This record gives sequence, structure tokens and C-alpha cells, in this order.
Amino acid sequence: MIKKISLLGCAALFAANINAQSSKALNLIPLPEKCTLQAGEFTVNPQTKIVLGTSNAQMQYAVARLNEQLKAAAGFELAVVERGAGSNTLTCTLNPNLKNDEAYKLSVKKSGVQVEAKTPRGVFYAMQTIRQLLPAQIESRQQAIGVKWAIPCVEIEDAPRYSYRGLHLDVGRHFMSKSEVMQYIDLMAYHKMNTFHWHLTEDQGWRIEIKKYPKLTEVGAYRNRTLKGAYVAPEKRQWDNTRYGGFYTQDDVREVLAYAKKRFVTVIPEIELPGHAVAALAAYPQYSCTGGPFEVEGLWGVHNDIFCPREETFTFLENILTEVADLFPSEYIHIGGDEAPKLRWSRCHACQERIKKEGLKNEHELQSYFITRVEKFLAGKGKRIIGWDEILEGGVTPSATVMYWRTWESDTAIVKAIRNGNNVIMTPNAYAYLDYYQANPKTEPHTIGGYLPIWKVYSYEPTPAGLTQEEAKRVLGFQGNVWTEYMADFERVLYMAYPRAAAVAEVGWIPKGKRNYDNFQERLIQLMTRYDVMGIHYNRSFLSEGRSEKKGD
Ligand code: ACM
Ligand code: ZN
Repeated sequence: MIKKISLLGCAALFAANINAQSSKALNLIPLPEKCTLQAGEFTVNPQTKIVLGTSNAQMQYAVARLNEQLKAAAGFELAVVERGAGSNTLTCTLNPNLKNDEAYKLSVKKSGVQVEAKTPRGVFYAMQTIRQLLPAQIESRQQAIGVKWAIPCVEIEDAPRYSYRGLHLDVGRHFMSKSEVMQYIDLMAYHKMNTFHWHLTEDQGWRIEIKKYPKLTEVGAYRNRTLKGAYVAPEKRQWDNTRYGGFYTQDDVREVLAYAKKRFVTVIPEIELPGHAVAALAAYPQYSCTGGPFEVEGLWGVHNDIFCPREETFTFLENILTEVADLFPSEYIHIGGDEAPKLRWSRCHACQERIKKEGLKNEHELQSYFITRVEKFLAGKGKRIIGWDEILEGGVTPSATVMYWRTWESDTAIVKAIRNGNNVIMTPNAYAYLDYYQANPKTEPHTIGGYLPIWKVYSYEPTPAGLTQEEAKRVLGFQGNVWTEYMADFERVLYMAYPRAAAVAEVGWIPKGKRNYDNFQERLIQLMTRYDVMGIHYNRSFLSEGRSEKKGD
């Protein structure tokens, strides 16, 4: 491996103006749209200045992360000034003519660095590219001695393919601390992903403080037992009987949001309804069909007790969503909608009365009524909804954004939704579920099952075939999902998410026709040396399992 790395280092000296070759030599993930490597390098030193041309706070954020790294790893940070000229500067300019809000141009010459972008977000992405062009020690949290902080001379023009490039984290099954969530967001941003889907409520735990309903966290954030090991037949199950839980206060959430903002990451909260609601119902059983009592679940899977669509329940949910909408600046709130069994509704007098009163055909239409009502409420607060693809069952308004996950249902339903006018986000389980095994189950820690090696993530094409150009615009992007039933701590989360999330990032950034799995692997090996310096625990199995065969594209 070491030999390979030094060969690539040499390649960097000779490659010129060849996309795949120079990008390979430059080892950037995601791969830039255009990249021309040139001779020479620019060396960052304590006298190098960052010139912003403005005092705009967003521009300050855009360069802050790189400067933080320099301070830690190089032992100096760069002066950030509004105006300045001459050599030894890293000059940022906003240029309204670039392709989109996330596009940037990066020109590294021996005398200095020029960044152009339409918005500060593009400047931030240019800085992440610079991070990957600097020696790997830039990721060190301790001062790295004897490093020349050189950036190869290069001309890059870059812009993402999709506007939504996401990573999800389920903190319901296992709680991840505020600082772990921040680290997750930081790593996403490093890969130029821009949306963090924060799955905050589950049967196994309610994780966000709601001032009006304190029992949601007093009761709903803690469970008394957790399934130990595999999900086996009831008589064989073993339990860990330790009380487990945690939640984020609204102040914690604000801190996470402020952190994400500085990394140009939008945080979308998910409040699950009508299903995956047992933790909430353990706290407030009056909003179920049966009245309970319930316990916060310690068993994974799909549970029958869900919210009962009575007026009081809508008031309860609207009060919750009001606090959530006030807290999160994102345009979207994810309202779940998946895996809501209709058993209780089919036997509930209030539910059947509602079906009659609203002229609905069945419980699927009742779910549709439920979702549409919540959607209308949130629209009054200036918010749009995202729901899992089950929200299509029983009909959905074209204004809802649909998150496609059930690959086994085939693309037909999602293509129909696109043609119906719905925006969609692709998170198909067969390509995007990062909780599945990424290598041989015999040599991997226990997971929920499935098999999703990195080459398969990399082979995914988010835009279904046969769409018109207008229809294709409704495919907002691609997201990897990290469900944590079998990830008890953050170390395991990173092990499952990385390096597959790097493939998710590249699929969201470049067109399929430009992807080349062999080339990606070479760049990934280099990126892994950076993960090593960061000290993150990631999965290395693709080196032994996925490399020799011609897979993917
Ligand atoms: C899901 O995996 N239930 C969205
Ligand atoms: Zn009911």
C-alpha cells in the first residue's frame, strides 16, 4: 500500500489536463467537474493572508474551518482581511455568474490562490478542496512538525450535480451526544454533503425537548431494557435490562444548528408520525387508539401502537411541531410516515368515525388525511414536509417531498410521484442503507442484515431513466441512511458510515457517466490516510473484498 501511495504522489507531478488522471493524482473526493494539474506548488506559511473582499459573516464561516485546521496542525492561522493584494494571498471573490450556489473555481498558482464562488457556500467547498490538497497532516489535532504546507498548482472548476446531498442519523435507537452529532456534521461537510437528516423520534426513544410536553423526554427518552444481540424468535430473546436513554435540550439543538450553519449544512429534523411513536405514547398514552399503557420500546422493528387521528392528537402534534418549526430554520420538516401498521386504526371507533366523516375509503386514506393535515399545518408556518415513500399510499399532495427508500417496491411508484409533481429524495435501501453489512458478515460485527458493499453504493444512479428534463429536476438528490439498532455507540456509527458515505457524497456530486470505480478506489485509499490522521474508526474491508473485481460502473 505504501508503494502505491508514493506512486500516486509521483503521478501528481506529471499528470496534466486529464480529468481522470489528474483527479486521481489529486485524490479529491468528490471528484471535481474539471481539474487541470499544473507544475509547481503554493506553500501556505504564517504570512499568507486570506482576503475576503467583504466583512460578510458567511464568508468568515466559509474560511474558518480551514483556518482552525491550520491553527491546530500547522501551529499558525492565517490573517483574514477584507482587502489586500499581492502575492502570498488566498483571495476569495464572489462571482454571480457561476453555475449554481455551490459552484466554485479554484486557481492555485505559485504566487497565490484565487477562489471564486457565487455564494459563501461555494467558497466553503473550495476550502474543503484545499484541505484535501494539503498534506494529510492538515487533519491532525496536534501540531505536525516538519510539514511543508504545500498545495499543488491546479485549476479547478466545480459544481455539484444535485442540490440535496444528505446523510441521516437515527439517534432514537441509540443516542449520540451533541458533540458526536457535531463531529458527524463536520465529516459530512468535509465530503461536501449539505443536508443532515436528524431522525429524532422513535419507538425506542424521544430525543428532543418539547417545552409544552416535558414527559416526552422525562418518560419518552429512556427505556428500561434493550434487545441484546440478534432479533430472534420471542422465546430466544435476551435483554439488557439497564436503563438507557438521553435527549437534546432545545439549547443543545441550537448549538448543533449554529455549528452546522458554519459548515453550510442544513439540518432537517424528523418527527415520526403517525407510526414509530411508542416512546411518545409511553409518555402520553391518551393519543393512542387503545389508551395504553405503554413502555418505551426495547425491541426493534415495527410496532402496532401509533398515533390515533383524533382532534386532541392533532393539537398535541401541532404544538410539538410548532416548537420544532420555531427551532429549526430549515425549509423542510420530515414527518416520517413510514411503517404505520393499520391494525389499531381498523379496530378503533374514533378512527372509523373519522374515516366516515371525511368520506375516506380505508385506513390508507386515513393516513393520507393525517399527513395532509399535518402538511397544511406546517405550511401555515412556512414549512414544507418530507415523508418516507409510504406517504404515497392513499394519495399525497404534489407539494410533499417524498423520500424513496423501499427499493423492493421498484421505481414505478416514485416515477409516478415525480410525474405527479412531487420532489423526491433518493435513499433506496438497496443502495443507501449504511446499516447493512459492507463486507462478509462472518468477519464483520453484527448488523441488521443486508449486504451493501461500497462499490454498490457507488454504482447507484439517483435519476430514474425515462424522465423529461423538467421531471428530472424533481430528483433533488441522494442520501445515505444510518439506522442505529445495531450501533450502540458513535465509534460503530462511523465504522458503518465510512467510507461508504464518501461514495454517497460522490454519487450526489458527479454524473454517473463520469464515475469510475477503479479511480474512486485509488482516491479513497488516499482519503483513508486522512481519516487515519483524523482518528476516525472506519471500515477497511473494501481493500480486501471489493478491489480486485471489476465492479460498479
Ligand atoms: C425506513 O427505513 N423505515 C424508512
Ligand atoms: Zn384510533
